[in-house]
Amino acid sequence: MAHHVTLLPGDGIGPEVTAATVQVLEATGVEFKWDKHRIIGTRAVEAERASLPADVPASIRNTRVALKGPITTPVGKGFTSVNVQLRQELDLYANVRPCTTLPGIETPFAEVDLVTFRENTEGLYSGIENFDERLQIADSIARITRRGSERIIRFCFEYARQNGRKRVTLVHKANILKITSGMFLDIGRSIAEEYPDITFDDRIIDNMCMQLVMNPGEYDCIVTTNLFGDIISDLTAGLVGGLGVVAGANIGDDYAVFEAVHGSAPDIAGLNVANPTALIRSAVMMLRHLDEVDAATAVDQAIADTYRDGACLTADVGGGASTSEFADHVADRVASIAGTS
Ligand code: NAI
Repeated sequence: MAHHVTLLPGDGIGPEVTAATVQVLEATGVEFKWDKHRIIGTRAVEAERASLPADVPASIRNTRVALKGPITTPVGKGFTSVNVQLRQELDLYANVRPCTTLPGIETPFAEVDLVTFRENTEGLYSGIENFDERLQIADSIARITRRGSERIIRFCFEYARQNGRKRVTLVHKANILKITSGMFLDIGRSIAEEYPDITFDDRIIDNMCMQLVMNPGEYDCIVTTNLFGDIISDLTAGLVGGLGVVAGANIGDDYAVFEAVHGSAPDIAGLNVANPTALIRSAVMMLRHLDEVDAATAVDQAIADTYRDGACLTADVGGGASTSEFADHVADRVASIAGTS
């Protein structure tokens, strides 16, 4: 039976990397029924609709799974980030960002294998901001809740246990943000007692950034609040070859939206040079979520083989291939591994 999936190509390089990803997914032989043609973000606003039109979450409530390209968010003005709205509306509380070294990409570290678990619905992204015009004072509330903290920390420990991972590091700023970050840390310490098989420790965010660029191999699973997770996951992307290669997923109890860590990259949009690896790897996470394990393994292997031989890579990782040449190459490899060619 075909998997019914909502497809949101997004802005900037989104349509290019989404087309490449759909091509690779379809080469696996797994059947998809795409719910597409829904507009979101700037294009929806230009069509005089809400930035997140109601039919988009409605579609995901129906399919339960979405594959999404990046959405441009106006800086300092305009509509609230559609990503934040979507994550809050569908309660996609766990942002999971695995970061592993690919063969053939030259980086300062030989072996990086980290997964960041970013709380996705609250913290400084709660959207509670206020500007006092008269006093010229701007406030932003970092709301941390016990329920929100417990579920992301537990999600991280469960993932660690199910995937044979040995260590969870909780990242915070409880020395300064004693109440908000302090509560997150206290909850982490008490949940850790339920998982004696997994080593638990914590790091202050600034120290963690330094540790990650010096000794990334020491770390395994990282769990943290929204803003710290946003920053750390771009940092860890830089350790393995940049934003073009790092996958992500937004997961809740009922729905899941798979998207790369990167944004809409307006500087290279429309040039057919963007690297679709990040979204393809997000699609691998989606295949596993859909229990299509063989197809996921085939795509993973095709990506690893493509990077190992290095003959058809995009410019961001030192190659000369276009987005569509890379997609053709990976799709051919997938078809031959999956026996669908
Ligand atoms: P960005 O991730 O779009 O780009 C940062 C740099 O990485 C750029 O030089 C870009 O060319 C490069 N890059 C990103 N993805 C690449 C890929 N697949 N292949 C090759 N190079 C790639 O971040 P930026 O410029 O800060 O944000 C641009 C827009 O994207 C903003 O409107 C931002 O709000 C939005 N954004 C959306 C996200 C989402 O929808 N999940 C996530 C992050 C940002």
